[in-house]
Amino acid sequence: MKKRAPLVVANWKLNGGTDLICTSVASFLTKSFKAEIGIAPPYVYISDMVSFLRNSAIMVGSQNVSKFASGAFTGETSAQMLKEVGCGFCLIGHSERRQVFLENDASCHTKIERALTAELMPILCVGENNQQHELGLTQDILYRQLHQALPGLELQGKRLCIAYEPVWAIGTGKAATAEQVQQVHEYIHQELVEILGAEAAGQVQILYGGSVKKDNAAELLAMPNVDGLLVGGASLDPEHFTQICSIANDVAP
Ligand code: 13P
Repeated sequence: MKKRAPLVVANWKLNGGTDLICTSVASFLTKSFKAEIGIAPPYVYISDMVSFLRNSAIMVGSQNVSKFASGAFTGETSAQMLKEVGCGFCLIGHSERRQVFLENDASCHTKIERALTAELMPILCVGENNQQHELGLTQDILYRQLHQALPGLELQGKRLCIAYEPVWAIGTGKAATAEQVQQVHEYIHQELVEILGAEAAGQVQILYGGSVKKDNAAELLAMPNVDGLLVGGASLDPEHFTQICSIANDVAP
C-alpha cells in the first residue's frame, strides 16, 4: 500500500483519433479509480477528451508545451492555452522530443517554468539511452538532466513529477526490472533533495515509463520509490490500460 495514490499517465504520442477517444472514455467511465489517472492525447483531441471526461476525476494533459508564452511562433501551443482548454498537466522533455526535435535541458527548464506559471503540473521526462546504459552512465545523464532543468523553480504550492524513462526500454518490450527502477528512482530522489530541498523533493512523484504492460505494472508499483507509471503503447488499448489502472488501484491508500 502506498502513502498516496499512484499516478498512471497514458501518453498516446502521435496515435489515436476520435474512435480511440470514444472507446477509451467508455472504458474509463465504467470504472471508479482510487489511483490518479491522466491521459495525454495529441493536441487536437484535448478539448474533446476534456469535455467527455468532465464528470470524472481523470486528468487530461498534453505531450509537450511551448517554451514561449505568445507571439510569432508558428505551430506552437502555450501553457496558458493548454490550461484554458482544460489540461491539468503536460509532459516535458520526452526522449522523443529530445531526440527527434532536439530539445535540451535548457528548453525543459523554460517549459517547466511556463507550465508552473500556468498552473499545469509538469512531468519532466528523463532517462539514458542504450549506449549510455551499457557504459554505466545512467547516473551521470540523470544528474545533468535534473541539475540543468530543475534549479531555481518556484514550487511553493505547485506540483511537479519526474518520469524516469530509459530510452532503451521505450517501445522495445524490454522494460527495466523493478529492482533497476527502484535503484534509479532512489538516485533521482536523492538528487531532488539536493536541488529542491528535502521538503519539496518529498512532494515530487517519480513515475516509471518504458514498456509498461499489465504484466509488469504490479511489480513496478510495488517498489517503494515508484509513485506511478507513464504508459505508451499499452495505453492505446483501452482494456489493457484500464487493467493497468486497476492494478494501480490495488496499491492506492
Ligand atoms: P512504451 O510504453 O510504448 O514503451 O512508451 C513509453 C513512453 O514513451 C511513455 O511516454
